[in-house]
Amino acid sequence: MPVRRVCCIGAGYVGGPTCSVIAYKCPEIKVTVVDISQPRIDAWNSDELPIYEPGLCDIVKEVRGKNLFFSTDVENAIQMADLIFISVNTPTKTFGVGKGRAPDLKYVESAARKIAEVAKAPKVVVEKSTVPVKAAESISKILRHLSPDIPFQVLSNPEFLAEGTAIRDLLNPDRVLIGGENSTGGHSAIGELSSIYEHWVPKERLITMNTWSSELSKLAANAFLAQRISSINAISAVCEATGANVEEVAHAIGQDSRIGSKFLKASVGFGGSCFQKDVLNLVYLSEVLNLPEVAEYWHQVVLMNDYQRRRFASKIVDRLFQTVTGKCIAIYGFSYKKNTGDTRESSSIHICKHLLDEEAKVVIYDPKVESEQIKLDLTDPGIMNDTTRFDRLVSIVSDPYSAADGAHAIVICTEWDEFVTLDYQRIYNSMQKPAFVFDGRLILDHEKLCQIGFQVEVIGKVVKNSINN
Ligand code: UDX
Ligand code: UDX
Repeated sequence: MPVRRVCCIGAGYVGGPTCSVIAYKCPEIKVTVVDISQPRIDAWNSDELPIYEPGLCDIVKEVRGKNLFFSTDVENAIQMADLIFISVNTPTKTFGVGKGRAPDLKYVESAARKIAEVAKAPKVVVEKSTVPVKAAESISKILRHLSPDIPFQVLSNPEFLAEGTAIRDLLNPDRVLIGGENSTGGHSAIGELSSIYEHWVPKERLITMNTWSSELSKLAANAFLAQRISSINAISAVCEATGANVEEVAHAIGQDSRIGSKFLKASVGFGGSCFQKDVLNLVYLSEVLNLPEVAEYWHQVVLMNDYQRRRFASKIVDRLFQTVTGKCIAIYGFSYKKNTGDTRESSSIHICKHLLDEEAKVVIYDPKVESEQIKLDLTDPGIMNDTTRFDRLVSIVSDPYSAADGAHAIVICTEWDEFVTLDYQRIYNSMQKPAFVFDGRLILDHEKLCQIGFQVEVIGKVVKNSINN
């Protein structure tokens, strides 16, 4: 049966862009994205979309109101749909069993319960949220028990888009993974979902498999990507201690076609809503399966990331003559990577925390992140106990030059392109001396900065500075 109506529960970073592209590529399919948050839906229906993603706005404007709709009427959208994506968030649990590691599946479960409650006809339910292995089975059980007369099929169809390039990734995916039950019903559901992607994805890039493999593949893919970053970051520490240059080492390693050159950029640590959560998810899964060595192996990826952040922040204090108390430090970039306004698990938060704990005055500039978001992140109880410290120590400014004015140091936390082309002579002139630059993203011309007079500190590379060398 061809799919005519699609519903997506969860209008977030994944659900919104994914369904916009489906609507854009499948004009005969009516796509309704629903969310419990009225402000989020209002934003999707306005000119100011709730998330920033290059190319997204043009696609939404083209199809919204034609075959793409955003609504809070969850019940109606479920009832009308042939196929339902569950795209709600699955944050790491902050309480109870598995606290700090296991994903919280309460939103996925409530979506499943809602489907069982309102559906009056068979549906294909597609798990898009990243979940632990066997979550599809739990969704199936809930549906079967609450609604025994309706045959549901549950598929796993993990999303691999990266923020900042979501539209490009969705339009031209390396692969689309679909996991389903090995049964007639399962095959037919897989066929229905495949037929949507076949509108624009070459058939050979559609990979079908059993549900558990699909669920695990998503966790494993993110764990492998995160592991590469932790591996190169571990090497960056060795470089700083020896005089080797991490970019040269990464280039040499990446030229081996068995290794490949991507995801070898040393940094101040990976951020984002997925990597840490998914690796911890894998750690927890391994523990529950009584595989402690496997759990410990993957846990190291997250511990190395924490270490890299700590190491970088400590270096700032160390180089500023072992004290930053009362010193003004400009933070360039608050999002977890460029081209997104998303700050979830951003390393900037942790760098700021370290500096604020030392009573530094932090002046933050980011081209996309809203001031309220920065305040929310830094006054989170896990980051700051006493929120009056935020008012006392943190300023948020709307241009990079005023952030640096009177500062002792600039810290590059996000690799925004605009940081590369700033007038660093002008910045230097306005700063306290000696003026420091800490490049946590290896994006600046370090030699030129030294010529201007900056003291330059870089991840994975020793720069000849006048003071420290
Ligand atoms: C997604 C995935 O679903 C997650 O598993 C993956 O690991 C990261 O990407 P994301 O789209 O980034 O999550 O989450 P978010 O932007 O928070 O969007 C989730 C949306 O679901 C929110 O708008 C929230 O309001 C909505 N929601 C949540 C519901 O509509 N119903 C609920 O019961 C819970
Ligand atoms: C990631 C996966 O790439 C994507 O497939 C999955 O669906 C969701 O998780 P995302 O977190 O949006 O996507 O961004 P990604 O580009 O993977 O970057 C994650 C973090 O790693 C960022 O903080 C980035 O700056 C950092 N990173 C990335 C590095 O530090 N070095 C690198 O070489 C690559």
